[in-house]
Amino acid sequence: MSDVSSYAEKIRSAASATELDAIELEIFSRKHGALTLAMKDLVALPPPEKVKKGQELNRWKQTLTEALVERRRELSSVSSGALASEDKLDVTLELPPRERGHLHLIPEFIRQVEEVFGRMGFEVADGPEVESEENNFNLLNMPENHPARDAQDTFWLKDHEQETEPAKRFVLRTHTSNVQIRYMKTHKPPLRIICPGRVYRKDSDATHSPMFHQFEGLMVGKDISLANLKAVLITAMRELMGRDVEFRFRTGFFPFVEPGLEMDMMWQGAESESREGKWLEMCGCGMVHPNVLRNCGIDPDEWQGFAFGFGVERPLMIKHQIPDLRSFYHGDLRFLRQF
Ligand code: PHE
Repeated sequence: MSDVSSYAEKIRSAASATELDAIELEIFSRKHGALTLAMKDLVALPPPEKVKKGQELNRWKQTLTEALVERRRELSSVSSGALASEDKLDVTLELPPRERGHLHLIPEFIRQVEEVFGRMGFEVADGPEVESEENNFNLLNMPENHPARDAQDTFWLKDHEQETEPAKRFVLRTHTSNVQIRYMKTHKPPLRIICPGRVYRKDSDATHSPMFHQFEGLMVGKDISLANLKAVLITAMRELMGRDVEFRFRTGFFPFVEPGLEMDMMWQGAESESREGKWLEMCGCGMVHPNVLRNCGIDPDEWQGFAFGFGVERPLMIKHQIPDLRSFYHGDLRFLRQF
C-alpha cells in the first residue's frame, strides 16, 4: 500500500498543472495506474482480506482524488496571482486603426430594393434555388417544348432525370418567377411581394454569368392595371438609380404575362455618353397571365395582377460603370474596396 500512499505527498509538492496531470495518470491510468493495478490484484486475495484491502483502497482513491482537486486549485490561484503582479497593462498605448468593412455591392443593392418596395407595402418572399420543373416552367405557362424555354436553358439535377412528371424533375431555377407560383399557391390575394435571389443559366461572358441575381415583384388585387405597374416600377427605379433616369416601355414576350413588356432605361452616366443615349433593357414585366392565376387557384375574373423581374448585376454595372460582370464574384478586394 505504501506505493499508493506515497502519491499523496507527490501531489502536494507538484509544481505545475502539467506535472499534476502526469501524476494523475500514474495513479489512475486505466491500464497502468498504480491504483488501478492494486484494485486488479484484489481478485487473487482470500475473501476476508479482499474486503479489508478493498475498503482501504477505496479510502485512498477518495483521499488522492481530493488532494488532486485541492492542489489544482492552489496552482491556478498562484498563476493568476503572478499574472496580476507581473503583467503590465499600458492603457495609453495606441492600437493600430481598425479597418471598417462594408457590404458587397450586390447584397447592398438587394437591401435597398427591399427597403424601397417595403415602403410601398411589398413584403419580402423567398423560394428555393433548386426548383421543380413544374414551378419553374409549367405553371408559368411554359409547357415542355415551349420555345421560350430555349432562352432559359439551365442545369438539371441528375437524380431525377428519368422522372416523367414535371413536379418530380428538378432544375436550378432560371428566374425568380418560381416564387410567384409558390406564393400564389399558398396565399390569398390581395398580394404584394418582392423576392430577391440567385438564379442560374447556361451562359458565361462579360455580361452573363451562370449564376446571377434577380428580384421578382408581384402585385395581385382588384382592378390592378398596367398603370399601376408603371407607377410602381418608375417610382422604385428613380429611388434606386437616381432621379434623372428616363424610362421607356416596349412590348416583350414572356409566356407568363399578357400583355408583356420590357422596361428600358436611358443611362446618362459617362459610360453611355460615347454611345449617345443608349437605351438599356432592364426588366421583363407585364400583367400576370390568366392561366398562371388559374394554375395557382386564383380566379382571373375577380383578380388581376402585375409581375416584373429585374436583374441585380445589370443596374449595378451601369450605375458604377463596371465593364465585366464577373468582377462581382471574384472577391478581389482591390475591386470591392472601390465602392
Ligand atoms: N422571369 C423573366 C426573366 O427572367 C422576367 C419576368 C418576370 C418577366 C416577371 C415578366 C414578369 O427573364
